[in-house]
Amino acid sequence: MTTTKTAQESRRRPDNALADSIAILDFGSQYSQLIARRIREVNVYSELLPCSTSAAELKRLNARGIILSGGPSSVYDDGAPTVDKEIWKLGLPVLGVCYGMQLMAHQLGGTVEPSDVREYGRATVSIIRHGRLFDGLDPAVESWMSHGDSVTQLPPGFEITGRTMDTPVAAIADEERLWYGVQFHPEVIHTVGGQEIIRNFVVDLCKCTQSWTMDKFIGAALAEVKEQAGERRVLLALSGGVDSSTLAFLLHQAIGDKLTCMFIDQGFMRKNEPEWLVETFERDFNISVHFIKARDRFLERLKGVVDPEEKRKAIGAEFIRVFEEESKRLGPFDFLAQGTLYPDVIESAGTQVDPKTGERVAVKIKSHHNVGGLPEDLQFKLIEPFSKLFKDEVRKVGLELGVPEGIRVRHPFPGPGLAIRVLGEVTKDRLRTLREADWIIREEIKSHKLYRQVWQIFGVLLPTKSVGVMGDQRTYQNQIVIRAVTSEDGMTADWARLPYDLLDSISRRIVNEVPGVNRVVYDITSKPPATIEWE
Ligand code: XMP
Repeated sequence: MTTTKTAQESRRRPDNALADSIAILDFGSQYSQLIARRIREVNVYSELLPCSTSAAELKRLNARGIILSGGPSSVYDDGAPTVDKEIWKLGLPVLGVCYGMQLMAHQLGGTVEPSDVREYGRATVSIIRHGRLFDGLDPAVESWMSHGDSVTQLPPGFEITGRTMDTPVAAIADEERLWYGVQFHPEVIHTVGGQEIIRNFVVDLCKCTQSWTMDKFIGAALAEVKEQAGERRVLLALSGGVDSSTLAFLLHQAIGDKLTCMFIDQGFMRKNEPEWLVETFERDFNISVHFIKARDRFLERLKGVVDPEEKRKAIGAEFIRVFEEESKRLGPFDFLAQGTLYPDVIESAGTQVDPKTGERVAVKIKSHHNVGGLPEDLQFKLIEPFSKLFKDEVRKVGLELGVPEGIRVRHPFPGPGLAIRVLGEVTKDRLRTLREADWIIREEIKSHKLYRQVWQIFGVLLPTKSVGVMGDQRTYQNQIVIRAVTSEDGMTADWARLPYDLLDSISRRIVNEVPGVNRVVYDITSKPPATIEWE
C-alpha cells in the first residue's frame, strides 16, 4: 500500500492515538529542546512547535497542555514574538517559562519592565505558596535564572508564588485556570526540583497519561514503516553509529529483505571496527550488509591535503561519489532511510518538500557527513522513523530491539573518522600509528571501567615530532594527544579529570607498543574555547 500521508504530516502528528502530548511553543531559548526532553523523561510525548502555531492547530494536535518557552526577546521589542491570543480560550493548562511567563503576564493584562538587576545563573527561589505546581518542593530551591526583564504587576486572577533576592515576582499562578509562570528554568539540571515541576505540570495538571514508552514507539514505528515502504526497496547507509545501526534493526524487522544496508569503508574507522560491524550484523542478526571497499580511493583523494576544511570537504565529496555509484549499482531504490533525530528536524531549515507528492526529499546525506547535496538525478524519498526521538530515546529503542551493547553505548564518532585525528596529511602509515594508539586508549579506559563516564575519549596524532631517549638511543618521533571530555550533548564540554594511573598506563603502553611514538600528552582544554575534535 502506498502512503497518502506526507512525511511532514506523519512527523507532526505522531501516534496521537498512542500518546497524550504537550505542545511547547518555542520562543527561541537555547533550552527549548531541553523542555521537550524533560517531558519525555516522564513518559509523556512533547513537541516543540513554532511560537506562531495557532490555537486551532493546537486543538487539532490534541495537546493536553501548553508550555511557552523562554527566549531572547523582550515583550516590548518591536516585532517581539507572541502567541495567538485564542490559546487563552482553549481551557488548557499553560506554563510560561522565563520569556513565556513575561509574555503570559503581558498578554493577560500585567506589566513587564526591565529589571534594575539582571539575574543570570544560580539564584535561590523562596516559594511563597506551593500550590499544585510546586507540590513536593522544599520551601527554598536553587534555580537557574537568565533574564533582564521582570513582571512588575500581575495580571488579574494571578498571585505571586515565588521570589528571589533580586526578583520579587519569580513565579506566578492562577490556580483556577491552571495557568502558571516561572521566571527560572525548571528544565535546566541546575534547578533543584525542576523535574518535579515538569512532572507536576504534565501529569497532575494536564492529566497526561504516561504512555510514551519505547516499546509502544517501536510498535507504531514498525507499522508506519510497513505502510510507507510497502513492497518497495529501501537503502540504508550504515555508519556503525547507534542511530543508523538501530535503524537497521528496526527496518529489518519491518520490511526484511526489502532493506539493503551498505557500509562504505573509507579506511578511517578504528581498529577492527568495520569487520566487527559487518560480522555482527550478518552472523548474529542475519542482516546482510554490502561492504564497500573504498580505502584506496579515499587515501588517494587525500594525498597532499593538510588543511582541515579541505580535508573534510574532500572526504565528503568522495563519500557522495561512492554512495552514488554504489546505490546505482545495487539499486534502484525507492527510499533512503536516515537516522535523522528530532534535534536535526527542529534545527534543519534546509529540508525540502516535493510539491507534487508532498514527501520530503533528501537534500543532503545527514548524520554521516556534513556535506553538500546529492546530485539532482539521485534524489530519494526519505524514511526517517527516528525523527521524533532524542538520542537517549534511540539508545532505549536499541536496547528493546537487541542492538548489541558495543554499538549502543559507543562514543560519538565523526563521519570523517580518524582522518580528522591524523593532523596534517593522512597516510596509511600515520593512520596505522593512530589506530594502534587509539586501540590502547580504549582498552585502558574500559579496563578502568570509566568508558561510560566520559562523553568521548580518543587519540590525536600530531603533525610534529619531538626528541626522546629510549635505551641509550636518542629518538625523534611522533606525539599522541589523549583527548577525553565530559559533556551532556557535545555542544559544550569539559576535559575529563581522568585518574593519573589511567593516564600513566595509557602513556606507557603507547610508547612501548606503538612504533614511532615517543611522547604522549593530555589535552586540558574545555569547549569552548577549543572544540572536541582537533580538526
Ligand atoms: P566538535 O569537534 O565540533 O565536535 O566540538 C562536537 C561533536 O561532534 C562530533 N563531530 C562530528 N560528527 N560528523 C559527525 O557525525 C562530523 O563531521 C563531525 N565532526 C565532529 C565530535 O566527535 C563531537 O562529538
